[in-house]
Amino acid sequence: MSGQQDRKFIVQAGGQLTGSFRVPGDKSISHRSIMLGSLAEGVTEISGFLEGEDALATLAAFRAMGVKIDGPTDGKVTVHGVGMHGLKAPENDVYVGNSGTSIRLLSGLLTGQTFDVTMSGDKSLSVRPMRRVTDPLALMGANIDSADGKPPLTIHGGHTLKAIEYDLPMASAQVKSCLLLAGMYAEGTTSVTEPAPTRDHTERMLQGMGYPIDVQGNRISIQGGGKLTATNIDVPGDISSATFFMVGAAIAPGSDITLQHVGINPTRIGVINILKQMGADISLSNEAVTGGEPVADIRVRYAPLTGIDIPQDQVPLAIDEFPAIFIAAACAEGRTVLTGAEELRVKESDRIQVMADGLQALGIDAKPTSDGMIIEGGIIGSGEVDGHGDHRIAMSFAMAALQAGGAIQINDCANVATSFPNFVELATHCGLQIDAFDV
Ligand code: S3P
Repeated sequence: MSGQQDRKFIVQAGGQLTGSFRVPGDKSISHRSIMLGSLAEGVTEISGFLEGEDALATLAAFRAMGVKIDGPTDGKVTVHGVGMHGLKAPENDVYVGNSGTSIRLLSGLLTGQTFDVTMSGDKSLSVRPMRRVTDPLALMGANIDSADGKPPLTIHGGHTLKAIEYDLPMASAQVKSCLLLAGMYAEGTTSVTEPAPTRDHTERMLQGMGYPIDVQGNRISIQGGGKLTATNIDVPGDISSATFFMVGAAIAPGSDITLQHVGINPTRIGVINILKQMGADISLSNEAVTGGEPVADIRVRYAPLTGIDIPQDQVPLAIDEFPAIFIAAACAEGRTVLTGAEELRVKESDRIQVMADGLQALGIDAKPTSDGMIIEGGIIGSGEVDGHGDHRIAMSFAMAALQAGGAIQINDCANVATSFPNFVELATHCGLQIDAFDV
């Protein structure tokens, strides 16, 4: 949110989720479709584009750098690519709002340009760590000013970049992607080794647009000086947005929902694996591959959940889904323990602290730890929680109302529009008793 009106949700207790519908397009893939479409030679037609504030911030940034982009109209966007060296200096600073993906991926891409760009964001983005991208980019020869490792960032163009071999200190697709995008402009072959697999949408889209990538286990290499060829991109539904409905259906007796055409990239399906291990009734159908990304319809029917120790190898594969998974854990029988998820502390909010505070306010025994949470399943009470301007916190607590003893009020919800602009309408449509109020 940047000085716009704030929102609060009031969600009445009880109910169930039913129906078959599509959630908005994948946020990560939508960002990348604009970035790579802009640098490609030719015209990229995108369908299923997420018309949320984050992806629109990326779209606006490329328009400001001289790329002709038509739409979005009903999820359709046409990007008239300018080629690897066709971007122009924007007239003004680039504002990316709440979007960590925009600022971190663009940092890499902009180090390869001949002009300077300053990028800034909202209150939440302005306190998020950027050294994780500026440090390795500096090793490549980039010149970037930051506010003590935080946005705004000024990327000074016109520097020759040299390839590096980099061991990522944390599992982060944003940092990996940033370096691969910079690597396209570097002399030599840039290699990034990740400590655990993270979402690989950048690699898949680069390959889909004809830019060779070498993947050997956890090591991804890219040679500078290549080019991208425009293609058509069908953006699948976002599994991170589908998650709220999956959890809602998993906790509310009588629920039966089908989420159509959702991306089930193996690097994103931690939530399915974790919920299934807790006992959720989840089945996939209509499996297909579209534009290099696997998709399926996901059906979730209510079934009682049991607490688990969440396997650490699932953490990077479910990193955005933990706020909702914590709600499932609160409704499960017994204890759920999450460890190895310290990255949650530097998301759009500190998702460990903020979720623990909210769960405790609703009467759940939730203990935050440095890298996770211990949750005893129990009875969710009525109450008021703070969304902390974090879309996923707000939508998670909205679903908690399905199993609550009374209404839940969630404050500071305007940022739901960053990833899921029609959340309230869709949730209402399938049975959540939710009202949104501008405040
Ligand atoms: C994203 C990567 C993840 C994720 C974010 C989107 C991406 O961030 O949390 O919502 O599109 O690459 P990290 O790289 O910080 O884990």
